[in-house]
Amino acid sequence: MTSQLHKKGEAWSARFSEPMSDLVKRYTSSVFFDKRLGLVDIEGSLAHAAMLAAQGIIGAADLAAIQQGMAQIRGEIERGEFDWQLDLEDVHLNIEARLTALIGDAGKRLHTGRSRNDQVATDIRLWLRGEIDQTSALLNALRAALIDLAEQHAATIMPGFTHLQVAQPVTFGHHLLAYVEMFARDAERMRDCRTRVNRLPLGAAALAGTSYPIDRAAVARTLGFDGICANSLDAVSDRDFAIEFTAAAALVMTHVSRLAEELVLWMSPRVGFIDLADRFCTGSSIMPQKKNPDVPELARGKTGRVNGHLMALLTLMKGQPLAYNKDNQEDKEPLFDTVDTVTDTLRIFAELVSGITVKSDAMRSAALQGFSTATDLADYLVKRGLAFRDAHEAVARAVRICVDRQCDLADLTLEQMRAELPNVAHLIGEDVFEYLTLEGSVASRNHPGGTAPEQVLAAARAARAALPHQA
Ligand code: ARG
Repeated sequence: MTSQLHKKGEAWSARFSEPMSDLVKRYTSSVFFDKRLGLVDIEGSLAHAAMLAAQGIIGAADLAAIQQGMAQIRGEIERGEFDWQLDLEDVHLNIEARLTALIGDAGKRLHTGRSRNDQVATDIRLWLRGEIDQTSALLNALRAALIDLAEQHAATIMPGFTHLQVAQPVTFGHHLLAYVEMFARDAERMRDCRTRVNRLPLGAAALAGTSYPIDRAAVARTLGFDGICANSLDAVSDRDFAIEFTAAAALVMTHVSRLAEELVLWMSPRVGFIDLADRFCTGSSIMPQKKNPDVPELARGKTGRVNGHLMALLTLMKGQPLAYNKDNQEDKEPLFDTVDTVTDTLRIFAELVSGITVKSDAMRSAALQGFSTATDLADYLVKRGLAFRDAHEAVARAVRICVDRQCDLADLTLEQMRAELPNVAHLIGEDVFEYLTLEGSVASRNHPGGTAPEQVLAAARAARAALPHQA
């Protein structure tokens, strides 16, 4: 019985007197999701084997056999021919069993001085490091697409909103560059998170380290890690790096969801500021006239999914005693799905942004409604000596008059304005109308961080210069 179990590759089977039930096997196995780590598992094993040979722990012939066997297995995985078996529990035992089947005893020596505990922690870090680089590249592509559009619309005027009420005119380019700032911080967070991901757990073995004369620094160098995890108990057990990545990804999705919400709003026929390319929209099965912004809506919805994964990982880690516990096997699906969701979303958004049609006329006429230059009129009076609170009061009165007459501030004649605002009439000159125009309003906010077209162009240039150089 025991030797049969051994043949099936259960690494610990000699200790047991009855086989695992099928239900428990299914419950405890992870191979059908962690097989995604197959290639990094091989990479880690090859670095470990090379170190074992360099330290004289295994022979040169064993190393050569392991390298040759792993090359074959890598090919099988890449071609989709590898026969993943539930009975073999996880990606690590599947690959090790296949290696031993291919090369015999040398395959059994690979696991010397190592445990699946430090192996899996190493695999996730290797894999996640690559995915962080991918996510960063996609964030940069989205930033570039937004910068391009912002530059084209440095002088396009739209209403800026607070409380979703028309507030002051802004330039569309300025509005887009707000998102560029958000995604730049997201990219910074990814970079920062990567430094903590990029540490080598291998050598921690099960939890306490190993009695073999290993060289952890050499393995770290081979695998491109910046250094080793300093404490073996911590190395095998904490998944804070995965939580940190997921938190950063949740912020990416949160920022995407804000942009998504605005795209949905802007595309609504009631607003009509933009149009999205047909390839990002769908129709309705019943209402023939519909063109729905499904992609931004889905992105908005998928944000909840990533937030959920963050909660799952935090809860998974909470209260776990040192060192490794099987709970940690549950880190993978949330992490994998977070990566898939955020990378798919970013990829599609970079394209979607490049395909936006801007309807400047609709933006402009919306900015003309809602007294968006009322603050400018107040500022005009202040510059002529009135205290701001008094100016605010006077303009509020003027707005009320315009609401009653159903006209805009700029529609009042100079005489009407003076007549309606007798207290400040002496301060109002012909030049007031320059301040009341949309162009005058945005052009006057001409300081770093302001909405003036000149500033938008400068900010777009700076944002482009901040992008990592494209190879
Ligand atoms: N599949 C396991 C995981 O993902 C690998 C480590 C298992 N270690 C153990 N002692 N059961 O965490």
